[in-house]
Amino acid sequence: MTLLEGHQKDLNDSKKKLERDDFDSGGIGIIGVGGWGKNHARVLAEMGVLKAICDMDIMKAKSLGEKYNVDSFASVDEMINTKKLDGCLVCTPTKTHHLVSKKLMENKINVFVEKPLSYSFKECEEMIKTAKKNKVVLTCGYIERFNPAVRDVKKILSEKTYGEVLMMEFHRENRMPLHIKDVGIIYDTAVHDIDTAMYFFGIKPQVVFARAGNIFHSFEDFSTIILGFGVDKVAVISSNWITPKKVRKFSVVCTEGIINGDFIKQEITVEDSGSSITPRRTNLVEPLSLELKNFVDVTKGKITDPEVSSREAANVTKIAEAALLSSKTGSPIYLNLE
Ligand SMILES: NC(=O)c1ccc[n+]([C@@H]2O[C@H](COP(=O)([O-])OP(=O)(O)OC[C@H]3O[C@@H](n4cnc5c(N)ncnc54)[C@H](O)[C@@H]3O)[C@@H](O)[C@H]2O)c1
Repeated sequence: MTLLEGHQKDLNDSKKKLERDDFDSGGIGIIGVGGWGKNHARVLAEMGVLKAICDMDIMKAKSLGEKYNVDSFASVDEMINTKKLDGCLVCTPTKTHHLVSKKLMENKINVFVEKPLSYSFKECEEMIKTAKKNKVVLTCGYIERFNPAVRDVKKILSEKTYGEVLMMEFHRENRMPLHIKDVGIIYDTAVHDIDTAMYFFGIKPQVVFARAGNIFHSFEDFSTIILGFGVDKVAVISSNWITPKKVRKFSVVCTEGIINGDFIKQEITVEDSGSSITPRRTNLVEPLSLELKNFVDVTKGKITDPEVSSREAANVTKIAEAALLSSKTGSPIYLNLE
């Protein structure tokens, strides 16, 4: 490119940027409106912040764009060159998260990526660097953080109402989601409980051991992961896509009581030697609304940090990576997480 051509390109780029800025005044975009992304689109529209919808399947993008009266696009480039966005959600399949998010961040757009942050820890590190370099927020959809049942347990554990936490168990079961083709149950499902276990303990595990196999799916469709925390604390995470009904339960054993919880019912029961209490919840809240409000508040500068940091999300990916490796080698994997 000659100097003159370069100068002309710069002029065109800044003109394009000006047109983009004039054209619109912020808001949130969404990329990927398949099974899960369409729920995000609905909530963003209810919040009045949905600005644009992108899906490589233009029919999906168009039909939701018409429903919510926003522009629809078939490509990320087309969307970000046309609309000025404060933030964007990435709800595409796991193995696309890295490239799609990087492009957004390089265009100074705050990013919320659906879980897991990325398939490989190396890619997560690159994403964190890109966010820092471009001074944008990068967060990830570990939605159980916004589940009232999880928040109640976190409060009980922080206040040590029932003593010290010793061990946890998580059970997440469902029919196999036929459309997931790029990852198995560890990256798709167990990651939720890996994040919640770290959140509850408030520390990171040093060792991972896992068993996993596949019956119906091309990747693993059942797994049990054991995470070792400190000298003698443990979380056992069992997930499968074999059970024909949806189960999402957990239990937390403390020195002076046990908490049983249900992620779906958003309910906990606390038992100690003399009593059993199930706190009443009068109205169920949609964790998705709380999660998106958190992201929108960060993009508007109302709060400085998102609930789920990119480092925490990267650590979940590193543990998932180790669990998969452990299930293949039969050995425990020792970690040194940041
Ligand atoms: N937090 C949760 O509870 C939860 C639940 C379900 C799914 N998810 C996550 O959401 C993400 C999407 O899952 P899903 O079940 O909706 O998948 P899906 O396959 O139903 O939808 C993905 C959509 O992305 C589109 N797409 C793919 N690549 C694209 C690209 N480069 N540009 C534009 N569009 C593209 C596809 O056309 C499709 O419509 C995954 O990361 C998954 O792990 C999270």
